Amino acid sequence: MPLALQKILDEKKKENSFRELKSNPQSIDFCSNDYLGLARSQELFYAIQRSAERLRPPYNGSTGSRLLSGNSELAEEVEKKLADIFHAPKSLLFNSGYTANLAVLSCLPGRGDTILYDELVHASIRDGARLSLASRFSFRHNDLNDLEEKIKRAKGNIFVAVESIYSMDGDKCPLEELVSLTEKYDVTIILDEAHSTGSYGENGSGLAVQKKLENCIAIRVYTFGKAMGVHGACVAGDDKLINYLINFARPFIYTTAVSPHSLLAIRCAFDFLKGQMGIQSILQEKIKLFLTGFEKMKWDCAKSDSAIQNVIIPGNSNVKELAHFLQHHHFDCRSILSPTVKEGSERIRICLHSFNSDKEINELNHVLSEFQV
Ligand SMILES: Cc1ncc(COP(=O)(O)O)c(C=O)c1O
Repeated sequence: MPLALQKILDEKKKENSFRELKSNPQSIDFCSNDYLGLARSQELFYAIQRSAERLRPPYNGSTGSRLLSGNSELAEEVEKKLADIFHAPKSLLFNSGYTANLAVLSCLPGRGDTILYDELVHASIRDGARLSLASRFSFRHNDLNDLEEKIKRAKGNIFVAVESIYSMDGDKCPLEELVSLTEKYDVTIILDEAHSTGSYGENGSGLAVQKKLENCIAIRVYTFGKAMGVHGACVAGDDKLINYLINFARPFIYTTAVSPHSLLAIRCAFDFLKGQMGIQSILQEKIKLFLTGFEKMKWDCAKSDSAIQNVIIPGNSNVKELAHFLQHHHFDCRSILSPTVKEGSERIRICLHSFNSDKEINELNHVLSEFQV
């Protein structure tokens, strides 16, 4: 191979930013996005299995793009259900949140338009914006004054991309204030609810619906691989939005549709959550318990009251050392290195779950207090 792949990989090793695949099945999970324990729920597992056994005719794959052989009554039924949960006229399914964001960002803002995105948005939003012909600029994290300055200078149709809960810092977007600002300037909000789907709102409907702002946020992306414990995503919005995506979104058109098994899993996961809404409050109690101990330690951290917490230790090697220390104590906590986060804000990302016992949370805090930087 003519490319100097090994040399580039060696440089990454030297910079301490080499990525490797790891699994820690014996450790206590403070790492996964399975905030409500649905991915590990036996009850949900068997509910999905039973619904797969009842599927008529039995089918394994979706067999093609939604625009060819991949459409089905089941897909349309699940989209109708999701639209009801997310209080939207329509929804459109995607294979993942990554492709849903690529679709939205790459095809809605066109040449002459402007995308303004929070500097901490997920890579899928950035990648989608790069594929679009619109101009794109970031604004300072959660800084609506900076955003307003950029809106004033923006051209064409203006799109603002934010997350309801940020995937690395775990803090929330000030949605009410953002909506007031964008109404003043006729701006379209693209809201990624990846980390709030399931954990917030009635039936897992997320933060926009919980705050009754759904009618002010035109484009909403929901993902099912985190608190919902399964896989896939959808975009929720009006008829025009969904028809536009069906006609122009390449990540929707040129891929095999979501499999029947995944559709059943999404449907079962929302039915399951509807009958277990108490787990949202259990998760909130676990977060409070963690913060009670954690806040006393005065670690540098991004302020968060969500399931995503973090310990900031600048430097890839320092943060790797803390990750090893925690892993040695059987906690599955992973380091997030630069360039995934900005240099100087390398961190341990701690995810709390409804199934973490109080003892595990207290022990994690105890072990964190013993680490010497
Ligand atoms: C904010 C955000 N959006 C989108 C995604 C992508 O979702 P998926 O994992 O379903 O592709 C993620 C996943 O990490 C995320 O954190």
